[in-house]
Amino acid sequence: MAAMMSMPPSSPSSPLASQSLSAPSRQASNLPVRTIPGSYGLPLVGSISDRLDYFWFQGPDSFFRSRMEKHKSSVFRANVPPSFPFFMGVNPKVITVLDCSSFAYLFDMELVEKKDVLVGDFMPSTSYTGNTRVCAYLDTLEPKHAPLKNFALEILKRGSRVWVEELEANLDKFFDTVESEISKDGSSSFIPLLQTFLFYFLSKTLVGADPALDPGVANSGPLSINLWLGLQLLPTVPLLAFQPLVEIFLHSYAYPFALVSGGYRKLYSFIEQHGKEVVQLGEKEFGLSKSDTIHNLIFILGFNAYGGFSIFLPTLLGIIAGDKTGLQARLRDEVRKVCGSSAGLSFDLVKDMELVNSVVYETLRLNPPVQLQYARARKDFQLTSHDSSFDIKKGELLCGYQPLAMRDGKVFEEPESFKADRFVGKGKELLNYLFWSNGPQTGSPTESNKQCAAKEYVTLSASLIVAHLYQRYDSISGDASKITAVEKAN
Ligand code: HEM
Repeated sequence: MAAMMSMPPSSPSSPLASQSLSAPSRQASNLPVRTIPGSYGLPLVGSISDRLDYFWFQGPDSFFRSRMEKHKSSVFRANVPPSFPFFMGVNPKVITVLDCSSFAYLFDMELVEKKDVLVGDFMPSTSYTGNTRVCAYLDTLEPKHAPLKNFALEILKRGSRVWVEELEANLDKFFDTVESEISKDGSSSFIPLLQTFLFYFLSKTLVGADPALDPGVANSGPLSINLWLGLQLLPTVPLLAFQPLVEIFLHSYAYPFALVSGGYRKLYSFIEQHGKEVVQLGEKEFGLSKSDTIHNLIFILGFNAYGGFSIFLPTLLGIIAGDKTGLQARLRDEVRKVCGSSAGLSFDLVKDMELVNSVVYETLRLNPPVQLQYARARKDFQLTSHDSSFDIKKGELLCGYQPLAMRDGKVFEEPESFKADRFVGKGKELLNYLFWSNGPQTGSPTESNKQCAAKEYVTLSASLIVAHLYQRYDSISGDASKITAVEKAN
């Protein structure tokens, strides 16, 4: 925390000078103006060479880290995939922002726009989303962003009425199956079970629809979403094994939606038939067409919610189950002390679990589920890192790699270490710099910004899961893909 004291106040134009998503003040920075280091290399050759480094020779982490060290700057020019030969329309040139100060410019909607840059200059075909551009691809100035964002916020509010009971009921089914697999096979490879839990829990809370009522999705829903997600994101997803085959066959073309259209159609009809109330809410209260409502619901359910939690929860469970420092005993004690004689869990109860919440935040800091965030300069402006200012030109694409920004040693002490208590007590001030949701954890998602609509629900749900775990068990053992043993609560 001491390190934080030497932070951006010295750079008044940094967005970190403000604690919310509001625009930074426009005073000139005192920091020296530096030409952005790095180059895009020769035409075609530069982008291919960077693409191979990113996907094959280095992997994303070393790709960004080694260039940051080489240029002695967290802001530099580089190419990111996908690129030549078959992505001719995609411009791979970006300016990286890899420290907390420069990364926060991605949230300043006066300076940057977010039109079609969810996964970079490449955008999966809109055929994956019913030929409509769903909320996450819209800039805040586009007229449809406000009703769609407000619809997302409203379905969360509506879902909060059943959130905790659905989470606990579906989690019990998950743990029952984990236990029976452990007694049968000695361990449980829990990812498919977790995804079934997520599909049922999220369908019921966000869409008001029960998958058990629809044979079209009851068993195949998670697989359909995995295929739909995988195929549209394939050109951007690092797969370090099986090279060069992956480069040739998986990273060189965009795959057609037709390959997964059957599963998508079943999800559409599931929501149309069983989520009528939520669909009508979109039409009547937010002026959306029926098909826009349903395509956005599929995206929120499948991409934002199921996709995000499918990456985040295994990491969280792995950190807890694999801990050898006594963390589990401390979590268990806190959960049981706060719950006391209460019959069930609630959002209010878990808000009082400081250590549980801190472990959730620290997991998100070191392992942000959405690693890359992009934004395009709306106009010319000056961007500051901790030590320099840089001139950004209108139209240039900023690329933030969160795992590095969240290891910013000027903000987080021992940035590479998992410190379970980091966000306890005075450590809560650091929530201003926790950016997993495309905004600080102290900010609020609104129609005027692009912060994750479920910023609060994601962290509270994770805390509820940890709390439920220690109501049911004294401890669990395993890693991010397998639970090997559970010790039942006495
Ligand atoms: C662990 C789970 C989740 C993670 C990691 C996550 C992460 C994110 C991130 C990083 C963004 C911003 C993307 C960008 O513009 O660059 C985002 C946007 C969004 N998220 Fe989440 N999210 C999660 C769960 C959810 C859930 C449960 C919902 C349900 C409503 C949701 C709804 C949205 C929406 C609607 C947006 C678009 C916001 C806008 O366009 O203004 N997310 N999410």
